[in-house]
Amino acid sequence: MALIVPSILSADFTRLGEQVQAVTAAGADRIQVDVMDGHFVPNISIGTLGVEAVRRATTLPIEAHLMITDPTRYVDDFLRAGANIIIVHREVLPDPRPLLGYIRQHGAQAGLAISPATPVQAIMDDLTDADLFLVMTVHPGFGGQALIPDCLAKVTQLRQALNARGLTRDIEVDGGIHEGTVAQAVSAGANVLVAGSAVFNDRETPAQSIQRLRALIGA
Ligand code: DX5
Repeated sequence: MALIVPSILSADFTRLGEQVQAVTAAGADRIQVDVMDGHFVPNISIGTLGVEAVRRATTLPIEAHLMITDPTRYVDDFLRAGANIIIVHREVLPDPRPLLGYIRQHGAQAGLAISPATPVQAIMDDLTDADLFLVMTVHPGFGGQALIPDCLAKVTQLRQALNARGLTRDIEVDGGIHEGTVAQAVSAGANVLVAGSAVFNDRETPAQSIQRLRALIGA
């Protein structure tokens, strides 16, 4: 069954706790906090304060998606803040294995992300070192962008590589995931759907959004 993971990047921060509680009650599987440093990506978002706030509002697992240049420097802070999954970008790690191992040794799941320009080949040596993989379907930095269709081929390629090795791993897609793209993302091989603006918007309640996505993926 595919998992739905609201990203708080598009939430109303004047009532973040209320919105996190609403998606929790609506059956979200995890919550993602998009951490941006204004260096790895051209935007600054939130840091450990965001994870700590979400931690106080839900018992769901929290993913800290570190879109930052130096995740090694800050990983302990995010562990302390209450992140259950820490996702780091392959692009900033010459060898991701030490950091992925450190995250695992300190009680969290380790996620490895690749941006649209990074081929799946870049993580082929790391398939056993991470608990999940995040294939960005937009260029990281902003919510509300359109999904880049070519990225779904990477999802399929990664799923085939994992299957060939008998590895069961979550493959997340993140960026431009909404009612018009969710089915093709699952068909491509993704089983975790990160959605920000499709869940948090002015058109419907977060609960309605999640129910709509679930209906489309039959989960
Ligand atoms: C990009 C962010 C977004 C966010 C979801 O850096 O990572 O992908 O999570 O954005 P939407 O769902 O609004 O495209």
